[in-house]
Amino acid sequence: MFHKLTNLSFTTEIVNNCPLHLSLCSNKNYIFQELKKFNLMNTNKRNRVYIATSLDGYIADKNGGIEWLENVPNPENDDMGYEAFMTETDAIIMGRNTFETVCSFDIPWPYKIPVFVLSNTLNSIPNPYQEHVQLLRGKVKEALKQLHGKGINSLYIDGGKLIQSFLKEDLIDELIITTIPILLGEGIPLFSNLDKPLQFECLSSKKFTNSLSQNHYIRLR
Ligand SMILES: NC(=O)c1ccc[n+]([C@@H]2O[C@H](COP(=O)([O-])OP(=O)(O)OC[C@H]3O[C@@H](n4cnc5c(N)ncnc54)[C@H](OP(=O)(O)O)[C@@H]3O)[C@@H](O)[C@H]2O)c1
Repeated sequence: MFHKLTNLSFTTEIVNNCPLHLSLCSNKNYIFQELKKFNLMNTNKRNRVYIATSLDGYIADKNGGIEWLENVPNPENDDMGYEAFMTETDAIIMGRNTFETVCSFDIPWPYKIPVFVLSNTLNSIPNPYQEHVQLLRGKVKEALKQLHGKGINSLYIDGGKLIQSFLKEDLIDELIITTIPILLGEGIPLFSNLDKPLQFECLSSKKFTNSLSQNHYIRLR
């Protein structure tokens, strides 16, 4: 969700390498189905997080606001690795609260890949979003099983509580965390209690726009 306002493009390596009729096609859902047919989707199962936090580890302020995130100066419109990350992602699993936040933005639907919203209270996806979003129910492992059964393997996990549930079950393989140098004092946290420590390795650290740092962590198993 961090990059919801960027103009995402699907002109990725994966599309460049696919059969000609697909690279000429502008219907993204069609491309997604066809890529699966041609076995060009990712086959490795992995769950990754790409998220921005405050210095004190919040992903939104106490009212769910993310203005502090949107107002970060980015004069060169650096996408901070987002497109590359999305190229390697089959679909997004989003918590219901994050989905509702995205719906509240006055912008066209920002994602070019399938989005699955995990919710056990929503009865259905509201009408304008049904074209882009599917509802998943049940527990995290059941949801993953459903997606893996469809060949959807490389997943972007988004939403604080949802990420925490994945971490509780040790189901997160990579964390890409961009830190905004602001202390919010309180808010919606990225992390919560765990039953056991989870060790990660830092694959890379980058600095953007002289104020943001981005760390890419991989779970050591
Ligand atoms: N800084 C960033 O980059 C960033 C990124 C994403 C989101 N955000 C912000 O984070 C806030 C939303 O995060 P959040 O932590 O409040 O909620 P969330 O993780 O987006 O959604 C939580 C909801 O997802 C549903 N859910 C279903 N199964 C679940 C499970 N196993 N574990 C956890 N949730 C499950 C539940 O809804 P039901 O009750 O319907 O089952 C639950 O209340 C928003 O303010 C958004 O703007 C910021």
